[in-house]
Amino acid sequence: MTNGLWVTLEGGDGSGKTTQAALLAEWLSGQGRTVLHTREPGGSEVGTLIRDIVLHHRGEIAPRAEALLYAADRAHHVATVVRPALERGDVVIQDRYLDSSVAYQGAGRVLDAVQVRDLSLWATEGALPDVTVLLDIDPAAARHRLDADDKPFDRLEAEKEEFHARVRDAYLRLADAEPGRFLTIDATLPPKQIAELVRTRITPLL
Ligand code: TYD
Repeated sequence: MTNGLWVTLEGGDGSGKTTQAALLAEWLSGQGRTVLHTREPGGSEVGTLIRDIVLHHRGEIAPRAEALLYAADRAHHVATVVRPALERGDVVIQDRYLDSSVAYQGAGRVLDAVQVRDLSLWATEGALPDVTVLLDIDPAAARHRLDADDKPFDRLEAEKEEFHARVRDAYLRLADAEPGRFLTIDATLPPKQIAELVRTRITPLL
């Protein structure tokens, strides 16, 4: 998009994205880069309101409405937070982006994957990250981690095992289709080793 560098992290719930995003942000700040660590949903003020609906609304949200809510969050986040940061030359490290919609709303809710992706691309005027790190994990193993966290499950986390299995398969297909953008890592590796693999991939881009 510009002089900045945009890295997104993807993976199922409990795959360790947030830990890796924090480790990467810390390392890049240590290298003297200005880092923006952000997330979807909820990386802006409007996004925080949308996050509350999609994660905590009690009762049903129609799948297409859910897809539109995530896309609305994304449109506002990219326009007001991500794009300005990249234009300043910052590094943007982002928990989740459009691949989450293709995996969760596409494969999870069973909407058309191409339409879901196109909706996000329309929302963001075609913005795609430089690198997407996929932390791949078996949903059953991830569930153990979430259980250990002792936090109540949100709407998506509370979905059945088959839902999360479809999400995982969709992520792996996305990574296969775009090997230039994706770096897929086994999320059960020790966090330090994962961080090292991410750094190795990003160093030449700095
Ligand atoms: P996340 O912020 O990773 O949750 P937490 O902070 O609790 O780990 O993501 C919130 C949930 O939203 C997650 O279950 C995945 C889901 N999600 C979608 O279904 N579609 C999307 O486009 C995005 C960005 C997230």
